Amino acid sequence: MRILMLGDVVGEGGRRLVEAFVPELRREARVDFVVVNGENAAHGHGITERIAREWLDDLGVDVITTGNHAFDVKDIASCFQREPRLIRPANHPPGTPGGGFVKLHTPLGQEVLVINLMGRVHMPPCDDPFRCVDALLARERADVVLVDLHAEATSEAQALGHHLDGRVAAVLGTHTHVPTLDAKVLPGGTAYVTDIGMVGPYDGVIGMKKEASLSRFLKVKGDKYEVAEGDLQLHAVLVETEGRRAVSIERIVRRL
Ligand SMILES: [Fe+2]
Ligand SMILES: [Fe+2]
Repeated sequence: MRILMLGDVVGEGGRRLVEAFVPELRREARVDFVVVNGENAAHGHGITERIAREWLDDLGVDVITTGNHAFDVKDIASCFQREPRLIRPANHPPGTPGGGFVKLHTPLGQEVLVINLMGRVHMPPCDDPFRCVDALLARERADVVLVDLHAEATSEAQALGHHLDGRVAAVLGTHTHVPTLDAKVLPGGTAYVTDIGMVGPYDGVIGMKKEASLSRFLKVKGDKYEVAEGDLQLHAVLVETEGRRAVSIERIVRRL
């Protein structure tokens, strides 16, 4: 099975990259399953129902994951309740709207379980991702299990990769918006990358205009963030699985 996962899509530029390349990659790279992290799709903060519908209904996206920005858009919680393919971190506190994982059947009859997890180091409060995923895997079974690990600390991401090695097909990092060069298949057969990198404007600071971002380091009260525009790049990984294990992970980069 061939699985394509895109990192955090940031703003209008990121959405243009998804439109331009996801349907084409799905065909050309013979992709069976597509996961996209959408937590920054709406002006850099959160996701709207309209964006989620377009990706799921028209562009061939199978699952949308999120992270700390899951609920930034007003009234989006009801969309998480209605659409099981839009998920938020499973280790959000009990009672949080929506689901932290989803199980789907592919046209070839395989069952795919996608789990969204969030790290705890330098992140807003959430429950322990290690114990949360252990409990989930004790309950849920599927032919292929994928984890979107939304984490700030590279150490926590790598530790979770090793924790899950051999138990899931892939642990794929999101959140920092900066691609890391460590994509590999771990010894137990789990494809791993610390961060896929964002889908959006790379001429800025993690997707925001550099002037506004710099002002926040240089002044007592910085300027309001604005989404950057230049150097649009799509960063994704293509994972190939055989049975429950990954056999390869390859980086994909496209530019507009
Ligand atoms: Fe993000
Ligand atoms: Fe994030």
